[in-house]
Amino acid sequence: MNATASVKFRSISATDAAMLTDLMRRAFVQAFSHNTGAEDLKAYMDSHFTIRRQRSELSDPKTVNVLVTVDGHPAGYAQMDAHPPPDFVEVRRPVQLRRFYLLKSHWGTYIADELMQVCLERLAGLGYDGVWLSCWDQNARALAFYRRWGFRSCGTAPFIVGNDRQTDFILVRWIGPDATDGGPELTKAAGEYGNEGQP
Ligand SMILES: CC(C)(COP(=O)(O)OP(=O)(O)OC[C@H]1O[C@@H](n2cnc3c(N)ncnc32)[C@H](O)[C@@H]1OP(=O)(O)O)[C@@H](O)C(=O)NCCC(=O)NCCS
Repeated sequence: MNATASVKFRSISATDAAMLTDLMRRAFVQAFSHNTGAEDLKAYMDSHFTIRRQRSELSDPKTVNVLVTVDGHPAGYAQMDAHPPPDFVEVRRPVQLRRFYLLKSHWGTYIADELMQVCLERLAGLGYDGVWLSCWDQNARALAFYRRWGFRSCGTAPFIVGNDRQTDFILVRWIGPDATDGGPELTKAAGEYGNEGQP
């Protein structure tokens, strides 16, 4: 990315479903084709990243969707919703950061930080006080990124990609008042979450 590139963040809606689906599929393959079988990737994408499903998810008023463009081209996205967390996450008004992806050519730039800032401000503005997410235990880069942003692991959850049963860490971060102090304790004892957490 050149230094003069124009990076923008905007909300998206059901009319963007085809564009988002294409972006989701490209970002997913770029992120995981080196350590997940092609058949498993395809099975997951064919079930989750379809225009029909995205049209439905984007129409859900409880979701918050942010698209990143670079010089007018889709470059990444984040999806958030009020899906309830595992019971070991003790947050009064929780929100899930469900998907957070950049195309690989934008990794290691400042864009992920800006996208996270945009997301946390949007969520705090909507009155949520804690963000939780689920991240594959083998995804060291994303885990390092979330750790730098103050997310802390509080348990695990199974995650199924095709026929591959993986383990995710459940991470949580306070965004309510006093967030700069780390906020209050957000979890009970570390726990394990059932399959119902599968996004
Ligand atoms: C997750 C993602 C948005 C982060 O954006 P990014 O631009 O890559 O993040 P950054 O470069 O700012 O930070 C990456 C961190 O990982 C570290 N890192 C890089 N490669 C690593 C590796 N192989 N192992 C461990 N840490 C690694 C970097 O040093 C950096 O850590 P630091 O912030 O403590 O210095 C981006 O990598 C992405 O889109 N990945 C694919 C999608 C994905 O995995 N999403 C999360 C699903 S839960």
